[in-house]
Amino acid sequence: MLNQLLHKKQHLALIGLGYVGLPIALEFARFMSVIGFDINDQRVQMMKKSIDPCKELSSEAFNNTMIAFTSNPEDLRKASFFIVAVPTPINEYNQPNLKPLISASITVGKALKKGDYVVYESTVYPGCTEEDCIPVLEQESGLKCGTDFKVGYSPERINPGDKVHTLTNTKKIVSGCDADSLEVIASVYEQVITAGVHRATSIKVAEAGKIIENTQRDVNIALMNELSIIFNRMGINTYDVIEAAGTKWNFLKFYPGLVGGHCIGVDPYYLVHKAKQLGYHAHLIDAGRFVNDSMGGYIAKQAVKRILAADKHLSESRILVMGFTFKENVSDIRNTKVADIINELQSYRVQVDLVDPYADADEVKHEYGIELNIQPQGTYDAIIVAVAHRQYRKMSEQDFLKLANETCLLVDIKGLYSNQIEKLEYWSL
Ligand SMILES: NC(=O)c1ccc[n+]([C@@H]2O[C@H](COP(=O)([O-])OP(=O)(O)OC[C@H]3O[C@@H](n4cnc5c(N)ncnc54)[C@H](O)[C@@H]3O)[C@@H](O)[C@H]2O)c1
Repeated sequence: MLNQLLHKKQHLALIGLGYVGLPIALEFARFMSVIGFDINDQRVQMMKKSIDPCKELSSEAFNNTMIAFTSNPEDLRKASFFIVAVPTPINEYNQPNLKPLISASITVGKALKKGDYVVYESTVYPGCTEEDCIPVLEQESGLKCGTDFKVGYSPERINPGDKVHTLTNTKKIVSGCDADSLEVIASVYEQVITAGVHRATSIKVAEAGKIIENTQRDVNIALMNELSIIFNRMGINTYDVIEAAGTKWNFLKFYPGLVGGHCIGVDPYYLVHKAKQLGYHAHLIDAGRFVNDSMGGYIAKQAVKRILAADKHLSESRILVMGFTFKENVSDIRNTKVADIINELQSYRVQVDLVDPYADADEVKHEYGIELNIQPQGTYDAIIVAVAHRQYRKMSEQDFLKLANETCLLVDIKGLYSNQIEKLEYWSL
């Protein structure tokens, strides 16, 4: 298969060209002929003009690539190696929403021929590829997995905004439905992943490997968030405590904060769901999710409490929220928990202004119904620095004083200004 791809006798197709799919498609397209398929034609038209709709890649990333962008599923019939990287969100009950994955499997199933390969990259619970996706591929194609076509799973570890840990320099887990397919899939990925691949012993192991990377992170952050609630009652700073504890060789340095985005705040729910299906309630993972999902409301209440303690009327108070994206230095606002802070503040009728150097105002309005200001206007009773964007890291107390009313509270969620604030009232997690 690899030789056929390299000699352009076969084509590789990428289904779903978002944060994950587009960088992979372009990387493969440096070596082989790639069909980049997405259901969103607006995005496809942008990519045809070498524009990344996710704003992660520059137009140079499209140079020297052999890629045909399309929203026409018929074009997929030319492909023999399919990679699926569509979203795996949750619904309003925090349960897996497999609609994009099933719909992509239907599309691929219709284009599938004997001898083809399908590799899923979307993050799922262990068992999803074999139990939910393969039956759809078989039904749509009329072919049998294992004999007529092969399936694998290779989770994605892309970290948007991270220029150090990149797609090619991060080892990639690969798996296949049998030993032969594992080798073929590994060889195809080895072509682009310079750090090499890890051959997982089964598709389920590869799926589980990915989901626990994010679950481990989520639970550890939840522990720090819970500790920060306890330490707040004791009047001690969590970042100071972590710095002290971190002097021991085996203390793991995780920090409190908001857990949003498309991965860490979502993937553990996939595992909780699967465990429940198997008759086990994953209490610890679930509790971690609960703590992390509650932090936005908690932070807002802490700010409100302090404004009231300063004898101010809430309806006359103005709060500036700095940062809206789900993490620092990216424009991605999916599942951002800053929205929880703003909604909670507004439920107390506080006037909230929001600024963010990366987020798109139209997108913020469309997704959350929240106005994004270009810059702060006037002075404020509280300033909440919610995201550690590089522009905010450089700020000092002097910068905040220019935005501050007489008694002003600085809420420093990420502990950026720990032990540097003397004149403003200061609170952090
Ligand atoms: N973003 C990350 O940092 C990251 C990292 C590792 C893993 N993942 C996982 O990778 C998967 C994709 O995430 P993402 O961030 O790239 O999502 P995304 O929302 O950025 O992009 C998904 C793309 O898929 C397209 N799409 C949706 N349904 C489709 C369909 N049926 N057929 C074809 N295209 C379809 C959308 O139009 C969109 O362009 C998810 O499972 C996610 O959990 C994401």
